[in-house]
Amino acid sequence: MREDLDLTRMPQHVAIIMDGNGRWAKERGMLRVQGHRAGLESLREIVRHSQRLGVKYLTVYAFSTENWKRPKDEVSGIFKLVVKYVQTELKELCENNVRVNILGNWDDLSVPQESKDSLKVLISSTENNTGLNFNIALNYGGRAEILKAVGELLAEGADQVSEETFAAHLYTAGMPDPEVIIRTSGENRLSNFLTWQSAYSEIVLTPVYWPDFTPDEYEKCIVEFQKRDRRFGGHK
Ligand code: IPE
Ligand code: IPE
Ligand code: MG
Repeated sequence: MREDLDLTRMPQHVAIIMDGNGRWAKERGMLRVQGHRAGLESLREIVRHSQRLGVKYLTVYAFSTENWKRPKDEVSGIFKLVVKYVQTELKELCENNVRVNILGNWDDLSVPQESKDSLKVLISSTENNTGLNFNIALNYGGRAEILKAVGELLAEGADQVSEETFAAHLYTAGMPDPEVIIRTSGENRLSNFLTWQSAYSEIVLTPVYWPDFTPDEYEKCIVEFQKRDRRFGGHK
C-alpha cells in the first residue's frame, strides 16, 4: 500500500466511470469487446482492493442509457460479458460477503434475457451479505433516474418533496453520496453518471485506460482525493 494513503480518511463511497476499454483495445489492434473483457480483470482487482481499503460502497458505471447508440455487436458483446462476469465472480463475491446492487433499468425489455437471468441470480445470492456494497450501474442514466423518482412521487400523490424524500426514490436510496468520482481514460465529463448524487463529489481524473487501472492507480486517485479541500459552500 502507498505510504501517502491515509487509511483513517477513506471515502465511504467511491464511484468509478470505467472508461477507455475501446481505445485500449484499438492501440493493441484488438476488437473493442476484447477491451471490455480486459476491463473485467481490472474490475475484479478493484472490487478486491476496495475491500482491503475498507470502502463501504463502490459504484461502477458499466453501461449507460446512451451506450445503446453503439453497434449491435459491441452491445451484445457487453451483455454477454455480464453473464460471464456472474459465472466467474459470483463464488468469490459470496465468500467475501459482498452485496451487489444494480443501479439502472436492468430489467428493461432491451436487456437480453440471459443477462437479466444472471443479474437476478447475482442480486438474490448476495442480498443478505453485509460487507462491501458493490453497485453496478447498468442501463443507467442520471436523468432517467431523476425522472423515475419524479414519476414515483407523482404516483404517490406527493404534494411536497424534500431532498431526503426525493433521494429515497433514487436507485441509491439509503446510501451516502459518493465523496469521490474517479474517471479513467482522460475524459473530463460525467456522461450522465450520478447526476443528483454527484452534487458535492470530488472528481478525480486519470489518463489511464480502464484495463490498465491497477490497485496502485486506485490508491493514487484516493490520495489525490485526500488532498482536496472540501468546503461544501462554506469556508474555514
Ligand atoms: C468504457 O469504455 C466501457 C463502456 C462504455 C461500456 P469505452 O468502450 O467507452 O472505451 P473508449 O472510451 O471508446 O475508449
Ligand atoms: C461512460 O462512458 C459510460 C460508461 C463508462 C459505462 P462513455 O464512453 O459512454 O462516455 P462518453 O460517450 O465518452 O461521454
Ligand atoms: Mg468511452
